[in-house]
Amino acid sequence: MDLNQSLRRLRRHLYGRYFDIRHRVDTTSWAAESLHRGDHNSYAPSETWQLLRILPPSEILPTDTFADVGSGKGRVVVAAARHYGFRRIVGVELSAELDRIARNNVAEMRPARSPITLVHSDVDHWDIPPDLTVFHLFNPFTGPTFRRFVTNIVASQRKHPRTIRVVYVRPVMAEALTEQGFTLVRSRRTVSLYAREPSAAGGGPEHGAGVRY
Ligand SMILES: C[S@@+](CC[C@H](N)C(=O)[O-])C[C@H]1O[C@@H](n2cnc3c(N)ncnc32)[C@H](O)[C@@H]1O
Repeated sequence: MDLNQSLRRLRRHLYGRYFDIRHRVDTTSWAAESLHRGDHNSYAPSETWQLLRILPPSEILPTDTFADVGSGKGRVVVAAARHYGFRRIVGVELSAELDRIARNNVAEMRPARSPITLVHSDVDHWDIPPDLTVFHLFNPFTGPTFRRFVTNIVASQRKHPRTIRVVYVRPVMAEALTEQGFTLVRSRRTVSLYAREPSAAGGGPEHGAGVRY
């Protein structure tokens, strides 16, 4: 590991400790189940200042709702509930251990501005609630899992027309979004914001929208 990598790792760790003390949670310590398997990536908590920079709270409407997909120990869920005025917030997490820690964090955190629901599920088995408008992804999964997820968002939008925004940290599968009619709104270093209007082309039934495979 070179000096720059070590410094970045130290910065992430210090930011994590600061976040945990500030919000009275534990999102930084090691977790046994945070292991990489197939398409599914392991746990690493976000530096949530990046979320605030790419999606300023002033751009959130009172009708907007938020989901962190692959919510881990709930750091982003906590940050969203403390800094924004979302109508509600959802976290979806595959690992039972991480989900349990997230539930603890939500129970212990300083007062939230929005109600929070945590769901322990593989994203493949999660029915996207029709009111969700803003999705956060910190590179939780790749490959076919990511493509199925995008297909399901588009199917949900077709059934329940609404503007959908996606905050994508380390956007290694960005092409899967643009192929399905998402457009890049802005990008800052390793974080990008995408949006899709209900009238957007792409991702129709001919692309298998809504199909689980
Ligand atoms: C890089 S971490 C991000 C954690 C959190 N969103 C954050 O930004 O602090 C990715 C998370 O996605 C979860 N994950 C991976 N595959 C998943 C799947 N198929 N369904 C739900 N969660 C998944 C992992 O367990 C991990 O907690």
